[in-house]
Amino acid sequence: MKKKIGMINRIMVISVMALTVGIISAGCVKTGSSSESAAGNAVIGIIGAMDSEVTSLKEHTSDKKTTVIAGMEFIEGTLRGRSVVIVKCGVGKVNAGICANTLINNFGCTRIINTGVAGSLNNDINIGDIVVSVDAVQHDMDATALGFEKGEIPYTDMRVFSADAGLRQAAVRAAKESAPDINVFEGRICSGDQFVATREQKDEIISGFGGMCTEMEGAAMAQACCLNDTPFVIIRAISDKEDGSQHVQFETFQAAAARNCANIVEDMVEHLAD
Ligand code: ADE
Repeated sequence: MKKKIGMINRIMVISVMALTVGIISAGCVKTGSSSESAAGNAVIGIIGAMDSEVTSLKEHTSDKKTTVIAGMEFIEGTLRGRSVVIVKCGVGKVNAGICANTLINNFGCTRIINTGVAGSLNNDINIGDIVVSVDAVQHDMDATALGFEKGEIPYTDMRVFSADAGLRQAAVRAAKESAPDINVFEGRICSGDQFVATREQKDEIISGFGGMCTEMEGAAMAQACCLNDTPFVIIRAISDKEDGSQHVQFETFQAAAARNCANIVEDMVEHLAD
């Protein structure tokens, strides 16, 4: 993390709107479905996959009530004056999809934020940097043998899940304000049930989808949100980058990166309009 000398006191927000390979699917793209001021005083769902990604959020939440569904602890409460439900979903796409669906249909969440860590797919994006989702894809969804595009959910028009514009804007603002020493990028997040650790894995993802970082939940949560017409954003802090030693970097940096990301989410939640 200290290697970020020279980038201190600099915020670099890079909007990458058109990294799409192929056509952006129209399915489940709810552009403009909410803004910072359109959602009413509703409950905000916050999902992390691991303890490190949600512990501080839980600690800072008051009036807590815990309900267990599908083995996940959903913690309802008040965070920085806002009604939230915070949950550790566990690692992987199935957990994330179940979790988002439960937040929406059991807890009435009308906006979902996914916080956590990710591996960099881009040399310019370093450990500790933040990526806010423009959109998300499932890089391990592959029915190309049946003639579907890579990443396309067969027999649907779903491939690319667009994040909500208002939530993106709120996330970038919060990152700038609460973590001014950290670079903030906006772009595609590639999710799959794989810990990506080799150059070959990365090259395959990049050639199929572009993308700024890779993780294991975001696009599955996004699919559940889209199916339920619910705005979402994914905010990820980079925990690993180097080919071949990503697992070592992950172990070394994930806790601090996850915590930074959670701090941004807290700031975002506080300032999010009703
Ligand atoms: N989460 C953090 N780093 C990751 C990686 N390299 N691959 C998948 N998920 C991750």
